[in-house]
Amino acid sequence: MKPMRIALLGAGTVASGVVRVLRRNQDELCRRAGRGIEVVAVAARNAQKARRSIGDDLALTDDFRGLATRDDVDIVAELMGGIEPARELVLAAIQAGKHVVTANKALLALHGNEIFAAAQASGVMVAFEAAVAGGIPIIKALREGLAANRIEWVAGIINGTTNFILSSMRDRGVDFATALAEAQRLGYAEADPGFDIDGVDAAHKITLLCAIAFGVPVQFARAHVQGIRDLDTADIRYAEQLGYRIKLLAMTRRSEQGIELRVHPTLIPATRLVANVEGAMNAVVVQGDAVGPALFYGKGAGSEPTASSVIADLVDITRLHTADPGHRVPHLAFQPGALADTPILDMPLVRTSYYLRIRVRDEVGVLAEITRILADCGMSIDALLQRPSADHDEHTDVILLTHETLEQRMDEALARIQGLDTVLAPVVRLRKEELR
Ligand code: NDP
Ligand code: HSE
Repeated sequence: MKPMRIALLGAGTVASGVVRVLRRNQDELCRRAGRGIEVVAVAARNAQKARRSIGDDLALTDDFRGLATRDDVDIVAELMGGIEPARELVLAAIQAGKHVVTANKALLALHGNEIFAAAQASGVMVAFEAAVAGGIPIIKALREGLAANRIEWVAGIINGTTNFILSSMRDRGVDFATALAEAQRLGYAEADPGFDIDGVDAAHKITLLCAIAFGVPVQFARAHVQGIRDLDTADIRYAEQLGYRIKLLAMTRRSEQGIELRVHPTLIPATRLVANVEGAMNAVVVQGDAVGPALFYGKGAGSEPTASSVIADLVDITRLHTADPGHRVPHLAFQPGALADTPILDMPLVRTSYYLRIRVRDEVGVLAEITRILADCGMSIDALLQRPSADHDEHTDVILLTHETLEQRMDEALARIQGLDTVLAPVVRLRKEELR
């Protein structure tokens, strides 16, 4: 049988991994897929740079659209990143009847609904295992392996760059800028690392997991997004003293009111497996009603781990492309006509517990005032620490953990605490998840 013919758009970190792994494992892949999988050409805008990345023997072109729609191409692998021209090229490929594989979570989080609808209309597949958690096959697990379950929540460390930065700062005392530069050198970071640091990349990914877990459209604009830029090492230290690790956690959970969709630095009990995920490793916990908690762990970024997922999609499409489109696995796990309109909750309606650090003047009655406000707002305290300020004799840090409450109650309490004249700096508020 003739090999499946692949066009690569982009010749960077992920594309080079795809070329290497396809070559190295070609015999095994052929035995798995039932026919060979062969790259026919690569589109790149800088030929010299592309040659350094993918070698000398593959055909190169700078005509991206021409390659994406070429007659002798079966599958287009979009490995460029960014929104345009990636979106326009993916839609052109779909229009031309090509199946698409993409690692581009930004594109799918923003334009997934349009792209999946176009693919359905053309009877082609858009596969995106590599878009979430690098080498971990979490899309396949959620869409197929866990199909029996009513999913309750999904929580994950799904940005390798920020996890690498947090681990480097905590374990090796490396400063933020140095850790970021190292993550960039290792090929983990996005072209614009602000996407990693500010939580946007993790939000793109959890938006996709949310859609697949709960059978709702892709809704990135509704996600709450907060990164690690303002995280203070003092809070990492205090959290440790209280038995917690701070991670950039992406979370989606259903409640009676709707669906939570959020990314923010989060305290997680140090005893949880997920709290011990270090460096560029990723982990996703899925809580299903039948399976209970299931943990998926692996490399979340990097050339070959990501290529592993891209190639798994190439194999899947090679096996399935002759199947009746109506009998394939739906893009968002649920049949397109069966997506629900469950609302994504605004943050004030989210329930969670909190870590607060309050810099106060060290005098009688301060703590009583703070605890009274929390009690007035219906919140109870789980743990409390008091630590003298390193830079002022008469100032002290009060660190509190609360039990679970509505975010709007915490907003109300914080506005009142912040108004006390004994409170000397903006209160630090971090969310805490027990992940039971
Ligand atoms: P790179 O920057 O290493 O490679 C991107 C490639 O696409 C380069 O050849 C680049 O050309 C080309 N390219 C980018 N923008 C354009 C454009 N506007 N026009 C033409 N060519 C363009 O990125 P990665 O390989 O790291 O990432 C590719 C995709 O995979 C992204 O969507 C990313 O989010 C995703 N991803 C990456 C992972 C990783 O660990 N790196 C993990 C999971 C997903 P040039 O070199 O000239 O800039
Ligand atoms: N920049 C991403 C990360 C790449 O650090 O996780 C993998 O999606």
